[in-house]
Amino acid sequence: MKILVVGSGGREHALVWKLVQSPLVTKVYCAPGNAGTAIDAENLNIAADDVHRLVKFVRENHIDLTVVGPEAPLVAGLTDELRRHGLAVFGPSAAAARLEGSKVFTKKLLKKANIPTAAFSVFSRVPEAMQYLDDCEEQPLVVKADGLAAGKGVFVCANLAEARTAVRAILQERAFGDAGSQVVIEECLVGQEASILAIVDGDTIMPLDVAQDHKRAHDNDKGPNTGGMGAYCPAPVVTTEIMDEIVRRILIPTVHTMKVEGCTFSGVLYAGIMLTSHGPKVLEFNVRFGDPEAQPVLMRMKSDLAQVLLMAATGKLSELEGIEWDPRPAVCVVMASEGYPGDYTKGHPISGISEADKVPGAKVFHAGTTINKFGEVVNAGGRVLGVTAMGDTIADAKRAAYEAVDKISWQGGWCRRDISDKAQ
Ligand code: AMP
Ligand code: GLY
Repeated sequence: MKILVVGSGGREHALVWKLVQSPLVTKVYCAPGNAGTAIDAENLNIAADDVHRLVKFVRENHIDLTVVGPEAPLVAGLTDELRRHGLAVFGPSAAAARLEGSKVFTKKLLKKANIPTAAFSVFSRVPEAMQYLDDCEEQPLVVKADGLAAGKGVFVCANLAEARTAVRAILQERAFGDAGSQVVIEECLVGQEASILAIVDGDTIMPLDVAQDHKRAHDNDKGPNTGGMGAYCPAPVVTTEIMDEIVRRILIPTVHTMKVEGCTFSGVLYAGIMLTSHGPKVLEFNVRFGDPEAQPVLMRMKSDLAQVLLMAATGKLSELEGIEWDPRPAVCVVMASEGYPGDYTKGHPISGISEADKVPGAKVFHAGTTINKFGEVVNAGGRVLGVTAMGDTIADAKRAAYEAVDKISWQGGWCRRDISDKAQ
């Protein structure tokens, strides 16, 4: 089987790394990929959002399965275009990808299906939004741009003044362009967050072991929000009972309602959940593997990922017995460029990756890396590497991951030092 993975982050390197281990797979391409996928697969010089050239490549090269990593090509309709040509693809249609592409769509669906989430209101004009805030009691609120905003469109506001500033930034100053033509203002939930990922084929839901992300830049969850500075799996905070409740009250009604609404969901349904004192509530949906959650999750997966994704893409997930896991926990530490999540420096040669890969149980997944004209691996993005390791205990996995991290360096490279401490 020949597979094309679309994307260029740490998630895509982990997907490539896992897919090439399948006895069913003869060749994996990655478009456009990074310096790590160049080793484990063959990179293509095609951008992840170049739907026309991706479809042309898949058709001309008889690719058996396309796996779409990031949200933008999903929201742009890459899977619809491939399916129109009768080609197998893992990922939701553009209509189903609205679960990530439009927070207004999602909140309305959650409300309609009576799925637990923060209470909310939607506005498209500044005066109405301001009137609403004037009528609110002083309290923390969360203000969100409706559309895709590269993870920057959510403002957790400590008070009404901050909420007013966020509304102006989104609706008036159009900080996120058309993604900010509507805002959601919602209740601020309190609790621990968990990333619930499930493989879905339209009907059957196969939850993966739970992961926890570390969204803030600095230790002890301080500093600005990022795409995720590290993750670990499994997450003991989600007990079997809580997981049952999440499946029953959140995943099943979501997949059912999507089908009833005529936008059947297949692909990865990623529910960002807040574990509140009133039970688990949906913060957001994503329609793809989490990054960096994919790295520790896929490292622990013993089942054949190519088979799982192909079965999901062809609506046959119910024929699979289930997914097998390595019982050992895995921890992923993200190493980032100087300045991230703001403007960052790039082009610095990275040393020590092969030494890090030799640490028992460790694997360095590349994210924002490329190869310069001297053949050196250099940093090319904000999040650069996802250093991931398994161990007999979460403490062992953390030790191995940081032992590997400490072998790697480049000018300005940094990471959090407390990834997975929440689990201990
Ligand atoms: P989202 O892009 O919707 O995942 O939001 C990014 C982050 O904002 C989440 O991971 C939470 O940490 C935070 N967040 C979003 N919605 C809420 C909420 N209603 N209450 C508290 N925190 C939230
Ligand atoms: N790690 C969060 C995300 O993938 O959206």
